[in-house]
Amino acid sequence: MKHLSLAVASLVMLTGAAGAWAASGGSKINWQSESVTVPGPGSFFKGPNVEIINSNCLMCHSAGFVERQPTMSLASWTVEVTKMQKAFGAPIASADIPTIAQALFSQQAK
Ligand code: HEC
Repeated sequence: MKHLSLAVASLVMLTGAAGAWAASGGSKINWQSESVTVPGPGSFFKGPNVEIINSNCLMCHSAGFVERQPTMSLASWTVEVTKMQKAFGAPIASADIPTIAQALFSQQAK
């Protein structure tokens, strides 16, 4: 008898859930088309000696994102690049960090 009342209770719960599911529109998914604008050529660093920063910095964010940061010293750029490598996992060779920091420092002088 105990089993039967449990079964009835479960059935009532299931029916209730199904009712709520049906009331919320059932399984209908409202697919819509969206358009996105992918970054264009403006997302790259321009100027001399930018290959090293284009190849090390743009897999996660645009050049514009980096260029909009406040002006920093060479030492701060070195810290920043090291942070990208250590904290965010950027695959930057440690030996390249001084060259990259110098390129970034020179970029902001423009
Ligand atoms: C593996 C991905 C990755 C790569 C590669 C990478 N970054 Fe970042 N960067 C991040 C993430 C994640 C953030 C934090 C974004 C946020 O806070 O919204 C960030 C933020 C920044 C910021 C904003 C200030 C800060 O410290 O949060 C600067 C400047 C920056 N990156 C510069 C660079 C430069 C320069 C390079 C190339 C040497 C580089 N990043 C390469 C992932 C990366």
